[in-house]
Amino acid sequence: MAAITISQLTKVFANGVRALRDVDLTIADGEFFALLGPSGCGKTTLLRTIAGLEAPNAGRIVIGERDVTRMPPGPRKVAMVFQDYALYPHMDVTDNIAYPLKIQRVGRAARRQRALETGSHLGLAGMMDRRPAQLSGGQQQRVALARAVASHPQVFLFDEPLSNLDARLRMEARTFLKRLHADLRITTVYVTHDQSEALALADRMAVMDGGVIRQVGSPVEVFQRPANLFVASFIGSTPMNLLDARVDGGLVRVGPDAASIPESARGLVQEGEPVVLGVRPEYAELHPQRVAESIAARVVITEHLGTAFLVDLETAAGPVQVVVSEESPPDTGDDVFVLTNPQRSLLYRRDTGELIGPASSLAGLATAAAR
Ligand SMILES: Nc1ncnc2c1ncn2[C@@H]1O[C@H](COP(=O)(O)OP(=O)(O)OP(=O)(O)O)[C@@H](O)[C@H]1O
Ligand SMILES: [Mg+2]
Repeated sequence: MAAITISQLTKVFANGVRALRDVDLTIADGEFFALLGPSGCGKTTLLRTIAGLEAPNAGRIVIGERDVTRMPPGPRKVAMVFQDYALYPHMDVTDNIAYPLKIQRVGRAARRQRALETGSHLGLAGMMDRRPAQLSGGQQQRVALARAVASHPQVFLFDEPLSNLDARLRMEARTFLKRLHADLRITTVYVTHDQSEALALADRMAVMDGGVIRQVGSPVEVFQRPANLFVASFIGSTPMNLLDARVDGGLVRVGPDAASIPESARGLVQEGEPVVLGVRPEYAELHPQRVAESIAARVVITEHLGTAFLVDLETAAGPVQVVVSEESPPDTGDDVFVLTNPQRSLLYRRDTGELIGPASSLAGLATAAAR
């Protein structure tokens, strides 16, 4: 087990693409750390650099007590499951899973035993003697996962390891990973596009954008209090509503209407200041009549989400989405009023895009909610 300390890490590819820019990041010993960000932001490059498969142009990587920046991949004792998992085509499932153990000179019987155990946990017991070409994509992905898990490395690096699994297998593999991590406490860096996966698995997470880390925090901290407009617009299965607004007379003026100033920003904004009001669709309410500090809106369309409705609205300040319970969906064309929740809404400075107020004032509450 080992902490990972990354300082001032920069990677510029031969074609001039700057994939990592002065990245500073500390991942604690035994931590499950998720990495999120849009396609091309540098997630795979960061993992490959930690693994020793890419050499950085500048900066340092320390794993445990050892500076591994110039060390080849082998002695780093890192196991990586790639986005495009590569299996040995001429070996069966058992030998694929056991291969790193062979390199570590574990005896044949012990290797086969560990391969079968790990394979069984991932639903591969019935196909241990098949070759990769005789497996589905999802099965191949589980073999790659089992191979990394069986070798008991110091550090796991996972690059979207569950992306080819269907919803049910994905849930099962996720539970397996969570239990595995609880048992072994191996420091893990886990890249995913799936935000629910980050919430379910990670102790902390980072959001990357263009080779830069834009926020680090517990998943709930990052979901509840995105530190800047980039993270606010990226995180959330239904994105946060971000409305151009202005501070006016102790309220946030949004078009011709006004909303309460978010509690976390009170006393921190100037009269007349241009701001962006952030409201998660789940944390707003719809009222059929005007109530104090509400925003007039018209219903454009209503989508069923399974247990709730997502209502698309048009306001003078632009489109707004609100999630309402199953019992009370409005009809298309209805005039309604959006009430924001000042305990949950957020305010950003329009010029810098930074959150106004502490980035983690909900941290206590958030951690409690996550357990
Ligand atoms: N070998 C390479 N040579 C040149 N440019 C590269 C190379 N590998 C990656 N890049 C570029 O570096 C940037 C970061 O790529 P990277 O693969 O790290 O992104 P990512 O965050 O993993 O994206 P995705 O979510 O699509 O997998 C991209 O602009 C990519 O085009
Ligand atoms: Mg990638």
